[in-house]
Amino acid sequence: MFQSDEPRDSIEGEVFYPMKQVTKNATVQEYERLYQESLRDPQTFWGERAGELDWFRKWDQVLDESNPPFYKWFVGGKTNIVYNALDRHLKTFRKNKLALIWEGEPGDTRTYSYFSLNREVCKFSNVLRSMGVKKGDIVTIYLPRIPEQVIAMLACAKIGAPHSVVYGGFSVEALAERIEDAQSRVLITADGGWLRGKTVELKNIADEALARQPTIESCIVVKRTGQDIYMEPGRDYWYHDLMSLPISTNSCQTEAMDAEDPLFVLYTSGTTGRPKGVVHTHGGYMVYTYTTFKYVFDIKDEDRWWCAADPGWITGHSYIVYAPLLNGATSFLYEGAPNHPYPNRWWRMIENYGVTILYTAPTAIRGLMRFGDAWANRHDLSSLRLLGSVGEPINPEAWKWYFNVIGRGNCPIMDTWWQTETGGFMISPLPITPLKPGSATRPFFGIDVDVINEEGAPVAAGEEGYLVVNKPWPGMLRTVYRDPDRYVQQYWTKFPGRYQTGDSARKDKDGYMWIIGRMDDVIKVSGYRLGTAEVESALVSHQAVAEAAAIGVPHELKGNAIHAYVILRNNVTGSDRLAEELRNHVAHEIGPIARPETVTFVDTLPKTRSGKIMRRLLRARALGQPEGDVSTLED
Ligand code: WTA
Repeated sequence: MFQSDEPRDSIEGEVFYPMKQVTKNATVQEYERLYQESLRDPQTFWGERAGELDWFRKWDQVLDESNPPFYKWFVGGKTNIVYNALDRHLKTFRKNKLALIWEGEPGDTRTYSYFSLNREVCKFSNVLRSMGVKKGDIVTIYLPRIPEQVIAMLACAKIGAPHSVVYGGFSVEALAERIEDAQSRVLITADGGWLRGKTVELKNIADEALARQPTIESCIVVKRTGQDIYMEPGRDYWYHDLMSLPISTNSCQTEAMDAEDPLFVLYTSGTTGRPKGVVHTHGGYMVYTYTTFKYVFDIKDEDRWWCAADPGWITGHSYIVYAPLLNGATSFLYEGAPNHPYPNRWWRMIENYGVTILYTAPTAIRGLMRFGDAWANRHDLSSLRLLGSVGEPINPEAWKWYFNVIGRGNCPIMDTWWQTETGGFMISPLPITPLKPGSATRPFFGIDVDVINEEGAPVAAGEEGYLVVNKPWPGMLRTVYRDPDRYVQQYWTKFPGRYQTGDSARKDKDGYMWIIGRMDDVIKVSGYRLGTAEVESALVSHQAVAEAAAIGVPHELKGNAIHAYVILRNNVTGSDRLAEELRNHVAHEIGPIARPETVTFVDTLPKTRSGKIMRRLLRARALGQPEGDVSTLED
């Protein structure tokens, strides 16, 4: 099954050693020494990496630590991530290399070379400028997985307007509150998108959100499905009309940005309240995504990279859009569902396009595994050389299926641990790393992680504790948009001077990291990050509901499923029909991914004396586990 030319001594547990055919051409040939070196002197390491990219003005200082936790990277440097992702490739052979290969769910395809992608980005940048979008204005993007999503993001970045991408699977309230927080005046959306043979009603959802949220003055609509939609005169414009105006010329100056200028805001769920706007920058984020992608996936010019995430989440921002383009790679993008029309859709596309690296989430692997091996075995998947996983811990069973059935035992799996806040991979193997199924293995260069107890002391090997990062890194979030206190409070207060990830983990004797999961009220459903608070506030917005609590309960396919407990208003009685209505209400407000698996009507919710819902206790009860310490319970 697994051939190895390496000695297999010292490491404990089930280990898969890298094969010669994978390691012989790997960019990074050793880990331990380079890692120690990068920790001793991270500034030299990151300064050298930054030097591989183009800057309009070189930085004066790699890292400014004078005002923690508001760290600054490449201070004084001027650049633009789009200059490095597009402009600079036009001066090389990559000008005519494919940047993007796209397949729609119905089977239509489009391709863009670096030259033609740049042309579309320039045209759309000119459109945005002509609509009055200026450096610093946040533009909200709400699109299906189509090339225009990538074009819109790059066009915003090119003119210095931070983008706020809202995942196309989100719904009315989720979209409205993100527009409101960002105070966007321009929204980019589409008539719809294809998913499982049906159209998603993006424009209708957007219309409903805009009725709640008046900051939007102009709405640009991409025609994707051709379905009937409402276009408001003076507010709504077709993308293709704007792109054919004389102002939409093929050239556009790329704005020179300060390294620390914001590149985008991406809203993500936290412990409490509304989603927070995580802010990333042109300089540090660029250097970090560029480097992590280059080393972990060992990207080469002949590769065809496929990150099967959605550009609307951080995985897509970093590893569909920015990192591959910064490295001059060819990316594949697919619009629809993995099993449409049949469960071999992904495998057929890998064969058709000669995909060499596939990067996806454990939930997708489990979902496809359930259809059996035959669908994959019908296809020639020999183009694959590396696999990747992200979003939640991968269970060893899914790991082995992915490795044996999809990778045919020839492709190491890069299990990458990271977060919206970290910008890029933090703990991950390299192609040369011996692998243990279920472990994200070792920290990336320059990343100093620890597993600690409540008092901040490292726990013994094999013990569970809080996963923290001890030192700043270039890809780290800079703040929470319009809420710097929350940035300090959420990430830097519990363990002063250290970044708190919110995850718990174990480190084994070999220094391998095993991520256990979230310790806070964030739930990972099918790899998507949701907050209990958002689900609860959606439930309470329904007229029948007085109070609600949501928890995550382990689920075989989804990783976690949402279970909701609801106290109804005085004169309302619970029924199956009402439970169904409430589940649909949550889906309508937040999106189908947030639809609770169950809704249970209760008379009381367990609370602390200070009135906080004890979700831990609800979870223990739902799972039939011991209730633990209940001394703070009110009643
Ligand atoms: C979880 C996604 C185990 C973790 C990039 C983290 C993982 C949260 C892994 C961030 C992994 C991500 N193994 N758990 N390889 N990757 N996670 O912000 O709980 O959507 O805190 O970023 O996903 O989710 P986010």
